[in-house]
Amino acid sequence: MRYGIIADIHSNLEALQSVLAALRERGVDEYICAGDIVGYGADPGACIKKTREVCQVIVAGNHDHAAVDLLDTEYFNPEAKKAVLWTRRQLSEEEKTFLKGLKPTAVRDGFLVVHSTPLVPKEWNYINSTFDAYRNFKAFEEKICFVGHSHSPMVFTLNTREHLCEHTSDTKVPIFDEYRYIINVGSVGQPRDGNPRASFAVYDTSLKQVEIIRVEYDIKSARRKIVAAGLPEGLSLRLVAGI
Ligand SMILES: [Fe+2]
Repeated sequence: MRYGIIADIHSNLEALQSVLAALRERGVDEYICAGDIVGYGADPGACIKKTREVCQVIVAGNHDHAAVDLLDTEYFNPEAKKAVLWTRRQLSEEEKTFLKGLKPTAVRDGFLVVHSTPLVPKEWNYINSTFDAYRNFKAFEEKICFVGHSHSPMVFTLNTREHLCEHTSDTKVPIFDEYRYIINVGSVGQPRDGNPRASFAVYDTSLKQVEIIRVEYDIKSARRKIVAAGLPEGLSLRLVAGI
C-alpha cells in the first residue's frame, strides 16, 4: 500500500492541487489528512470539498475547530485570528457540521494520525525536540505516528531496544522492525521551514519507507486571492519565503 499523507492545507487550493497531482503521479492508494484544512488562505470551501473527495481519513486541526467555534482563538496571533473569523463567515452550515464532526485522532493500518501530539491531542502542543518526541512515544502504541501542526517537516525515531530517541533530517526514512517513528509531514499550504514549496509524505508499506516530498505550486495566484479577499497581507507575503 502507498499512503499519501497531507496536513496544514490552510485553504491554499493551488498548493493542494499541486500536491494531489504529485500524489496521483506516485500511484498513491489512499489519502490521509492530518488536520488544518482551513485557516489563513482564501479557499476554505474548495479545500474542504477536495480534501473530503480524496481522503479516506481526516483528523481535526486547531484551525478547523477554531473556524467552527470549538476552540477559543485567544492564543492565536492577530493575523491567524482575523483569518479564523473570515473563514467562519465563508463556511456553509454543511461545511461547519463536517468540521465539527472531525475527531482528533485516527488509526489506520498500524499507524496513528493526529494533528498536534498523541499525548494530549486537544491541547495543540508541538513536537519540536527529541525531548518532546520521547514523551510522546510513550503515549501511543502504533509503530508510526503522523503529525502536522508546526508546518515544518521533521522525523523522530525511537530505537525500541536501546530506548534511544533521535532526530533525522533525511527525507527518505527507512522503516525498520526495531524502530518506531513520529513523522511531521510538513505543510501543504503554508510551509514555515524556509522552503516555500508545498510539503507532504508518501508511506510505502511494501518498500518500508516514508518519503517527505516538496513540490512547487502557483504561489502568485494563492497570494493574489488572499489580498483580494481582504485577509491580512502578511499571510500572502509569508508564502513567498516559506515562513
Ligand atoms: Fe496549521
